[in-house]
Amino acid sequence: MNEPALEVHMDADDLDRTLRADVIAGLTADRKWLPPKWFYDARGSELFEKITELDEYYPTRAERQILAGHAPDIARHTRARALLELGAGYSTKTRLLLDALTAQGTLETFVPMDVSPSALSEAATLISADYPALRVHNIVGDFARHLKHLPGGGDRLIAFLGGTIGNLVPEERAEFLADVRSVLEPGEHLLLGTDLVKSPRVVVPAYDDAAGVTAEFNRNVLRVINNSLAADFDPDGFAHVALWDPEREWIEMRLRARWPMRVTIPGVGLVVDFAAGEEVRTEVSAKFRREGVEEELAEAGFALDHWWTDRDGLFAVSLARAV
Ligand code: SAH
Ligand code: TRP
Repeated sequence: MNEPALEVHMDADDLDRTLRADVIAGLTADRKWLPPKWFYDARGSELFEKITELDEYYPTRAERQILAGHAPDIARHTRARALLELGAGYSTKTRLLLDALTAQGTLETFVPMDVSPSALSEAATLISADYPALRVHNIVGDFARHLKHLPGGGDRLIAFLGGTIGNLVPEERAEFLADVRSVLEPGEHLLLGTDLVKSPRVVVPAYDDAAGVTAEFNRNVLRVINNSLAADFDPDGFAHVALWDPEREWIEMRLRARWPMRVTIPGVGLVVDFAAGEEVRTEVSAKFRREGVEEELAEAGFALDHWWTDRDGLFAVSLARAV
């Protein structure tokens, strides 16, 4: 069995610097915000994995159904020798792709990239054990900054699953897709998972479950700031809010102060006041339509070769080719 390799582009220093810059920018803004990548310390990654198992959280099940049905098509179409996965997390669904690509005999290398070192290393140990012939190369990195470190070599398939592209706002998305295109050679592929526009009666519970796991996940960003910057947020002082924005067709996650609070963040020398009811935006999760996805892909230099949805039309997986 090959030992999984590890490449780190976010060491403690880099993490510290970027977290501090984000906290300063977000919490001194008129309308406070925090970027979603800070949800995912070890506890956050575990909480997200729990979200994927909730009855209300349909995206994981729907995407798994699509991959289960079409992984052999994806293998045949791409004949990929390397699978590079962005925001891989525990790569649970990705095994369907690994199965099809190894069965076909083309796949040699699997390169998961994530900001969460704990999720990556746990997954790599299990995957290396189950796919002994596969070279597993972990990259701890930010997909908004570190795509240039992805290995070259031709016949690559980049997978970006889970609807995570919806966590980028439109300008970030355009920049991200252009970056992905620029690391690929013409003829190489992108496999993209997107959650689809549907009734808020279905979407909202997926981001506000009855057991409160999503609420804990949302509040985890405050614990990350407490642990890393010696801040004194009281996570229980913040209510989890999930709002459907019908104009932008996205879910917006917020943390709402239940009462007035003064929070000190010694790591950045900040004192931040919250009025009762004041909100911090922590994440958006955009929902898509086929025309929009096709257009954004084309804009970035991709042709849409396949568009698959689950039986209920909840979620889509696109297979796009760099042109
Ligand atoms: N692909 C998995 C996990 C999706 S959750 C699935 O489909 O279930 C989003 C994942 O993206 C998390 O593992 C998180 O740690 C990672 N992530 C979030 N922001 C990131 C960033 N800027 N760069 C790299 N990974 C990121
Ligand atoms: N990529 C996931 C999504 O948009 C992330 C996610 C799921 C999430 N549930 C969440 C982020 C709750 C914040 C809060 O579906």
